[in-house]
Amino acid sequence: MKVYITRPVFDEAIDRLRREFEVELNAEDRILSKRELIQHLRDKDGALTLLTDAIDLEVFQSAPQLKVVANFAVGFNNVSIDSANKLGVAVTNTPGVLTETTADFAWTLLMAAARRVVEADKFARAGNFKAWGPKMFLGYDVYGKTLGLVGLGRIGQAVARRAAGFNMRVVFHDPESIPERVIKELGVTRLPLDELLRVSDFISLHVPLFPETHHLLNDRTFALMKPTCIVINTSRGPVVDEKALVRAVREGKIAGAGIDVFEKEPEIEPGLFELENVVLAPHIASASHETRLKMCMMAVENLVATLKGQRPPNLVNPEVWDKRRA
Ligand code: GLV
Repeated sequence: MKVYITRPVFDEAIDRLRREFEVELNAEDRILSKRELIQHLRDKDGALTLLTDAIDLEVFQSAPQLKVVANFAVGFNNVSIDSANKLGVAVTNTPGVLTETTADFAWTLLMAAARRVVEADKFARAGNFKAWGPKMFLGYDVYGKTLGLVGLGRIGQAVARRAAGFNMRVVFHDPESIPERVIKELGVTRLPLDELLRVSDFISLHVPLFPETHHLLNDRTFALMKPTCIVINTSRGPVVDEKALVRAVREGKIAGAGIDVFEKEPEIEPGLFELENVVLAPHIASASHETRLKMCMMAVENLVATLKGQRPPNLVNPEVWDKRRA
């Protein structure tokens, strides 16, 4: 069987796939165009894809042998699940292994934005530190404040656990039912979204990108927040209306933000570059040596299992399994 890897990944992963299949890969470290994707997947049985690869109906239709798309990410909004279902293709993701690393990074952004670390670093490097000043780089305390989590899935829960060390009140909003045991263990309180936005000092987003979560933060919802609030996004860019975020920070409706994901990645809304109180990162929340390797190997194992006719451990469209392409 033939598989395609859309970007250079870890050697261990490529070796593992080469032991099982005929492997082709995009050796250039760049995103393939749709036309290139179509061309490379035309005769493949499996694909190891990244979140930057848009796998839509046209791509699926042009790959008549494709049986599995193993996405190297927990999010899979880059893959059209409807199209995969229609054509009988299994889609897999990499849940779990990146939970703690992503939670660490949400906290990294939170602390960096609250205490103005990036601004201060630039200042120090520029040789501007001439004297200690009583009002130099004043930020916001984190300890004892209220943290609002939008989404209390695996990553939201891991962020909540870390808040205990900062003696924070943690409130959450999640339309899914969360087991009472989890709510109790974490000591978190469920609030309607608008109420959460009003009372939180820090708001961190941990929802998948769905039509219902698109532009969840917008002009209306930013207006509900405290002027001292700091917003963190490590989920998906389109959950936030980026232009509305720029307006909210510029007009002092909120105090700052820590943003790892963008609406039109890799483009960043230019207004964000002008805001010193926004910390920007290039979608790296899961980027630790350990975690990215684990994610990659998980994608590989999903791909191998599916092509060997076994149900992959992380199938995101189980409805396809009995109707899958042979
Ligand atoms: C990263 O954003 C992922 O979904 O794994």
